[in-house]
Amino acid sequence: GPGVSRPTPTPTPVAVPAARATGCPFDPAPDVQRAHREEPITRATLWDGSSCWLVTRHQDVREVLGDPRFSADATRPGFPFLSAGASEVADSAPSFIRQDDPEHARLRRMLTADFMVKKMEAMRPEVQRLADELLDRMTEGREAADLVREFALPLPSLVICRLLGVPYDDHEFFQKRSGILLGLHSTAEQVRTAREELQDFLRQLAESKRREPDDGIVSRLVARGELDDTAIASMGLLLLVAGHETTANMTALSTLTLLRNPDQLARLRAEPSLIKGAVEELLRYLTIVHNGLPRVADEDVTIGGRTIRAGEGVLCTLNTANRDEEIFPGGAALDVGRDARRHVAFGFGVHQCLGQPLARVELQIALETLLRRLPGLRLDIPFEEVPFRHDMGIYGVHALPVAW
Ligand code: HEM
Repeated sequence: GPGVSRPTPTPTPVAVPAARATGCPFDPAPDVQRAHREEPITRATLWDGSSCWLVTRHQDVREVLGDPRFSADATRPGFPFLSAGASEVADSAPSFIRQDDPEHARLRRMLTADFMVKKMEAMRPEVQRLADELLDRMTEGREAADLVREFALPLPSLVICRLLGVPYDDHEFFQKRSGILLGLHSTAEQVRTAREELQDFLRQLAESKRREPDDGIVSRLVARGELDDTAIASMGLLLLVAGHETTANMTALSTLTLLRNPDQLARLRAEPSLIKGAVEELLRYLTIVHNGLPRVADEDVTIGGRTIRAGEGVLCTLNTANRDEEIFPGGAALDVGRDARRHVAFGFGVHQCLGQPLARVELQIALETLLRRLPGLRLDIPFEEVPFRHDMGIYGVHALPVAW
């Protein structure tokens, strides 16, 4: 009441990755939401007992990710790792996602033409054909299937393989290992092995393209002659993993979300022209890169009134930024008619997702086709039994049994 001064709360550090265990599995973890409300830049404790800052507001997240004084180089002391496995890959050539400019820019530039909006838009007919073929196969003579296995995963996987020049026949090999790389509970040893096997696979691929070139990205990188096969393999690995796990999980999780929001689903079915905006809104609402983007301060920087010291780690939680009431009023709810374009689901700044034009084309086609072709689509298990990917760096569902 008036005149009573309340002591400033000293919040306990948030343990990250924070569990979503209670409450709605589409919402950010309760501890992280509370930090966002009460102490938007707060201390966090990582799996190994080390600590870092959690940056939770839209404005502050953009400031950190847009500021070159925050480094994405995982070999620097103080870099915050989300798992033992992530710390394992730090020094094993993780390509430009974990490098700073100018080296980051030099490598990324070699790929910008490949992922241009215009080029990705030109792929629509092919992505559409693949989506239709997968649905033909999934539905032929059947009334139920696992949507992840039969549609959400193979679609982006086929597309990225085609772009890179990776034989899709090897999909079991690389999908299994990419799952290990992204698993929060994978041991350092498992991650090291999976990484080496993938790296070898891609190095051999680069060698084979030297003998038999094709029009894929790996072959083109070989022909440029600027990178050795190890560097090409690292880049290929980044694209292969980022290119199928992300879109696959967005497709399955978006489908489930729409099934759980029947009014939104009905609206989207009634007005298919909403699909582009709906995909942005689903990217915002679901924010599948859900544990925060890691950076480390190169020098002292003041953000949102807090001074982050040189050598301190920061995690930018995109999921709270994407529900920041100042930017997205009523953001805790899904609204397929919302203008969600300011979302940061693809990150922000120089590392902002290179593959976003591709992800958009794939998601728009996958969801539009699914909803149009399967008007009776429904969940085939109780919602409580859906296996959410709490254990993975990229959120989603391990499987999605559906019927139609
Ligand atoms: C970077 C999200 C699809 C390739 C990123 C980052 C995010 C993200 C948040 C920033 C990481 C950071 O700053 O530390 C997503 C989401 C996707 C998606 C939500 C799908 C829904 C794709 C696809 C590709 C791709 C399809 C295709 C190849 C990359 C690459 C980077 C990146 C290469 C590193 C960019 C850089 O460091 O300059 N992505 N991504 N992503 N993404 Fe995506």
